[in-house]
Amino acid sequence: MRKPVRKAIFPVAGLGTRFLPATKAMPKEMLTVVDKPLIQYAVEEAVAAGIEELIFVTGRGKGALEDHFDHSFELEATLKARGKTAELKIVESLIPTAGNLVYTRQQEPRGLGHAVWCARHITGDEPFAVLLADDLVHAGTACLKQMVDVYNKVGGSIVAVMDVPREHTNRYGILKTGAEKDGCVEALGLVEKPKPEVAPSTLSIIGRYILQPEVMQHLDKQEPGAGGEIQLTDAMAKMCGNGQFHGYRFQGRRFDCGDKAGFIEANIALALEHPQIGGAVKESVKEFAAKLK
Ligand code: UTP
Repeated sequence: MRKPVRKAIFPVAGLGTRFLPATKAMPKEMLTVVDKPLIQYAVEEAVAAGIEELIFVTGRGKGALEDHFDHSFELEATLKARGKTAELKIVESLIPTAGNLVYTRQQEPRGLGHAVWCARHITGDEPFAVLLADDLVHAGTACLKQMVDVYNKVGGSIVAVMDVPREHTNRYGILKTGAEKDGCVEALGLVEKPKPEVAPSTLSIIGRYILQPEVMQHLDKQEPGAGGEIQLTDAMAKMCGNGQFHGYRFQGRRFDCGDKAGFIEANIALALEHPQIGGAVKESVKEFAAKLK
C-alpha cells in the first residue's frame, strides 16, 4: 500500500548571501512578506497539505526561527493584560502541537542535498515533503496540497515545476521531459543549472518536493555537484526514468524570494490583496506606475 506523506523537511541552514547584509544576523527565512516571515508561509502550506511532522534543518544563528514557533511568555502576558485579543490569537496560533516540530542541525552549509540528508533518521522509511521557504507559492489550493493529491493518485516522487525563459535555465534544476497527462510530466532525467544551449527543456523545479526515502541512499554518497555543493537534484536524477518520478505543473504563482526582485514582487502582490492595506498600497503602486516610462 502507498504510504501517506506525513513529514516535511524545511531546510533553513543556507547562508542567504544574496540578501546580505539583511541576513548577517537574521535567517533569510525570517524575512517578512507583508506581515509574516517566509518560513510561516511554508509551514502553513505544509499544514494545509495534511503534514503532521515539521522537520527544520537549521544551522548556526537560526535561533529566531525556533523562537518564532514557540511561546513568548512576556509578549503573550502583555497582550493579555492590554486586552489585545486579536494579536494574542495571532501569536498563539503559530505554535505547533508539542512534539510535532523537530529540529536537526546541518553543521556546515554543504548544499541542499546535504541539508535534506541531515534529516534522514527523522524521515526513516517514509516518503516526505521538502519545502524551501524562499520559494513562496501563492495559490488558491496550497501548492503542496495539490502535490499530495497527485501523489495519492500516481505515487513515486513528485517535484513542482514551471516553465522558465530558456535564458534562465542555468539558475534552476531542469527536467528532461517524457509523457504528460493532466499536468503531470514524467521525468526522464534532471540536470542542475544547465546552460541554455544544452538544457533538456525549460521546465524548472521549484522548491516543493515529495520524495521517496531511497533519495537518502543516493545522498549517502555525498558526491559534490554544481558549485561544489551536494545537490538534491543529482540524487533525484538517479531516481528518474522508470515512471516513478514526475514533475507537476502546479496552479498558482511562485515568487523566488531568495532573490531581491522576486522578494519585492511577492511583497507587492500580497500587499495588494491584503484586507487592511491593499487599498493604500494600490494607490501608491498606481502613483509609481504613472511615473514610469
Ligand atoms: P539557496 O540555494 O537559496 O542558498 O538555498 P542560500 O545559502 O540559502 O542563499 P544564497 O544563494 O547564499 O543567497 C535553497 C534552500 O536550501 C537551504 C537554504 O536555507 C534555502 O532554504 N540550504 C541551502 C540549506 O539548508 N543548507 C545548505 O547548505 C544550502
